[in-house]
Amino acid sequence: MAADYMWVDGIPFPTLTVENLELLRNEFLVKDEDVITLSYPKSGTNWLLEIICLIHSRGDPSWVQSVANWDRSPWLEIVNGYEKIRKHRPENGPRFYTSHLPIQFFPKSFFSSKAKAIYIIRNPRDIIASGYFFWKGMKTVKPPESFEQLFQWFLHGKVPYGSWFDHIRGWLSMRGKDNFLIMAYEDLHQDRRGTVELISQFLGYKLTPEELNSVLKNMSFQVMKDNKMSNFSQVPDTIMDHSITQILRKGITGDWKNHFTVAQSETFGKVYEEKMAGLPREAFPWER
Ligand code: A3P
Repeated sequence: MAADYMWVDGIPFPTLTVENLELLRNEFLVKDEDVITLSYPKSGTNWLLEIICLIHSRGDPSWVQSVANWDRSPWLEIVNGYEKIRKHRPENGPRFYTSHLPIQFFPKSFFSSKAKAIYIIRNPRDIIASGYFFWKGMKTVKPPESFEQLFQWFLHGKVPYGSWFDHIRGWLSMRGKDNFLIMAYEDLHQDRRGTVELISQFLGYKLTPEELNSVLKNMSFQVMKDNKMSNFSQVPDTIMDHSITQILRKGITGDWKNHFTVAQSETFGKVYEEKMAGLPREAFPWER
């Protein structure tokens, strides 16, 4: 059954989103020790989350193999996740949580905290390709009937969490802050070791070469795909149609070239040029 969205300020949110986002924004208290994974959907969120967990456990895979990713780093704006974060006990260490919220919806307390947040970005063309295969089988959103339909929705921000262009412009305003790291899905492909080292330094962990090697081994596409705590196979059928959707689908860069028509490619290029005006283009590896 296809779901209808919860629309707030013109942005469609999936079902299961907390009803009162304004309350979340005003009342949720971000703590200085919190570690937050941020992204626009389909940017590699679950990959980053896995890396953060593996860095925290110093390469020991037992945590990622025994606890589902949505329990290790619950979703802030999803009803169940929000409850889990609020019930977290300080003696269990720092809180990890994940969010797709556009910046204007994010808890205000974050902006005066020392909590560390990492925002992962990805070529928006690949986000469309990844999203097409993902949203088709998700029962919490309106599934696209064709690639062209999703393409049009994406250009008009009528996709879960709204416009990618607005999301990225919003969060990029945090660029340069000490407690905010921006990294790209493409960086993880081009220089995996260097990017993981950057993330661990940012989070304040100094890993031994053996620990780093173990992080690198356990964050691989195949290892994650085989791990039932990371591959979404435990997501209930009421939320996800497993015969259609896989979170770990291809795990490559540039797959959009297999799906965009020439006309879509040209249209996208024009809209992209307009909407990205004034943003630091050198921050985007897909433009290099
Ligand atoms: P594809 O659909 O292009 O394969 P998100 O977690 O934000 O929903 O992003 C999902 C995308 O990240 C999927 O892209 C998925 O394959 C990719 N991904 C997840 N883990 C990965 C890994 N270990 N290596 C490469 N890509 C990964």
